Amino acid sequence: MKHIKLGGLEVSRIGLGAMGMSHAYTGAGTDDAESIRTIHRALDLGVTLIDTAEIYGPYTNEELLGRALKGRRDQVVLATKFGLVSHTGGGEWTLDSSPANIRTAVEGSLRRLGTDHIDLYYQHRVDPNTPIEETVGALSDLVSEGKIGHIGLSEAGVDTIRRAHAVHPVTALQSEYSLWTRDQEPEVLPLLRELGIGFVAYSPLGHGFLTGKIRSTADFGGDDFRATNPRFTGENFQRNLRLADEVEAIAAEVGATPAQVAIAWLLAKGDDIAPIPGTRRVSRVEENIAADQVNLSAEQLAKLDSLPPAAGEHHNEQQMRMIDR
Ligand SMILES: NC(=O)c1ccc[n+]([C@@H]2O[C@H](COP(=O)([O-])OP(=O)(O)OC[C@H]3O[C@@H](n4cnc5c(N)ncnc54)[C@H](OP(=O)(O)O)[C@@H]3O)[C@@H](O)[C@H]2O)c1
Repeated sequence: MKHIKLGGLEVSRIGLGAMGMSHAYTGAGTDDAESIRTIHRALDLGVTLIDTAEIYGPYTNEELLGRALKGRRDQVVLATKFGLVSHTGGGEWTLDSSPANIRTAVEGSLRRLGTDHIDLYYQHRVDPNTPIEETVGALSDLVSEGKIGHIGLSEAGVDTIRRAHAVHPVTALQSEYSLWTRDQEPEVLPLLRELGIGFVAYSPLGHGFLTGKIRSTADFGGDDFRATNPRFTGENFQRNLRLADEVEAIAAEVGATPAQVAIAWLLAKGDDIAPIPGTRRVSRVEENIAADQVNLSAEQLAKLDSLPPAAGEHHNEQQMRMIDR
């Protein structure tokens, strides 16, 4: 597996998102044994970047990783996130990036992950009630203490990124980026390149949609995030199916799977971009990692570039309000 640099942090250019093993998707948390096998298979195949967050579960996803990484901690660039659980009184799904909250959050994450340091610690969402300078100041202290190696932001807009980076170098921005979510291209990506910040592309498979395997939403459980996601509901879903068909057509041409094409397209966007496809199955992690070997021609890339944008916003209204633009 080829390695790239996110800021100063070396990672495999394809990572593994662990969220769906415990959270957000139908079936999450039902087969931890297969999830752990999936993590181990990823490591065996050369993946080093593993992504989780305090809010996934909450907590159970970090605990799962702690179990999976026993004895293998040193093979991994371990990334987690804080800021969507307020330990200062607000509870879960409350934005809180106050220094006091960060102090509590980091100790919990370290304990659950079974480690004495987190390699990449992201603010999960920008907190409008805490100036980013205070947040990054607190994170910078954690770097000095050796509790975290690098600082990341997630779904932060250009102003926040600049302000944060002026306090302490930001290593990576993690935001949604895929064939059907390209709003990071005009402003954010150029800024990251100007500042030398890496990009971690979350939901690179469009929450599974771009794999072509989701032709109906009837099987989504009520706690599946996609059940209220505008791209997966009503007319939008039907319209978006045409996008999945286009990806499938190119995959057939290349002799790859649609998931591999979606990942390879992101890899072709630059050596500062690491997609973190999520799966809780060994067979799929093998498939996704094999995208490292898939080469798309200039013509195929151009065709993919010219696909129309998805119908519907990235997330439901409540989640969109938490995105900093
Ligand atoms: N920073 C943030 O705010 C944020 C938000 C969302 C996600 N993330 C991170 O990004 C990671 C990835 O995003 P994501 O999980 O939302 O979406 P994703 O990677 O775009 O898609 C994951 C979905 O696709 C399915 N899938 C995976 N590989 C497949 C394949 N080869 N063929 C068919 N289906 C496949 C998975 O199902 P199975 O598990 O059943 O295979 C899962 O339902 C997460 O795990 C998380 O770490 C971060």
